[in-house]
Amino acid sequence: MENQVTVFDHPLIQHKLTHMRDKATGSKLFRELTGEIAMLMCFEAMRDLPLKEIDIETPIGTTKGKVLAGRKLAFVPILRAGCGMLDAVLEMVPAAKVGHIGLYRDEATHEPVEYYNKLPADIDKRDVFVLDPMLATGGSAVDAISIIKKSNPKSIKFMCIVAAPQGIKALTEAHPDVQVFCAAKDEALNNDCYIVPGLGDAGDRIFGTK
Ligand code: PRP
Ligand code: URA
Repeated sequence: MENQVTVFDHPLIQHKLTHMRDKATGSKLFRELTGEIAMLMCFEAMRDLPLKEIDIETPIGTTKGKVLAGRKLAFVPILRAGCGMLDAVLEMVPAAKVGHIGLYRDEATHEPVEYYNKLPADIDKRDVFVLDPMLATGGSAVDAISIIKKSNPKSIKFMCIVAAPQGIKALTEAHPDVQVFCAAKDEALNNDCYIVPGLGDAGDRIFGTK
C-alpha cells in the first residue's frame, strides 16, 4: 500500500489546503484553491507520461526538444465535487477527454448511489484520472473505479485532496492497481462519516449549496 499512495507535502499545497479547511473561506476562494491544488498535483501524478524527441528551430539555431508522446488521457470527475478539480487539470492537458460519474452518499447508510454515468467512447485507449476532492469511507471512489474498469481503460489513477485512513485502505484493497494521490491524509471519520479534521462537505462548499 505504501508505494500505491502519494501524499503531497509540498509547502504550496499545504498552504492552500489550510485555507480550504478554514470554515471562514467562502465558495469563490474555496473553488479557486481546489483548482490550484489539483493543478499542482498534476506535476507528480503525470510524472510518468512518455515523451518523444522532435527537431525544432529556436530563433538562434536548431536543436532537439521533448514533447508529450501523444498518450491519450481521460479525466473522470465524480459528481459533484470532482468537477471542482476538472478545469484545472484540463488547463494542463487540454486534449484530454472527459467522462462523468454521478454518485451521492446516502445520508443514512453513507453508501454511494449511482445516478449518472457517461464515459468517452474510446476510454479503452486512454489512461484515466479519476477526480474527487474527498476520500472518506472510500465507497464512492471504489464504486466509480469499478464502473470505469468495466470499459477497460489502459490505466486508472485517483486524485483527491483530503483522504481518511479508512478510504485509503478501502480503495487500495479493492483496486491494488490504482495509484492514489492526495494532498493530506487526515486522522479519522466522525459518526456521520465526515473526514476529521477535513474541510466539511466539499460539494456544498464548491457550489455554495449550504
Ligand atoms: C462526497 C465526495 C465524495 C464522497 C466521499 O460526495 O465528493 O464523492 O462524498 O465519501 P465516501 O468516500 O465515503 O464515499 P457526496 O456524496 O457528498 O456528493 P456531492 O459531491 O454531490 O456533494
Ligand atoms: N464528503 C465530503 O464532502 N466531506 C467529507 O468529509 C466526507 C465526504
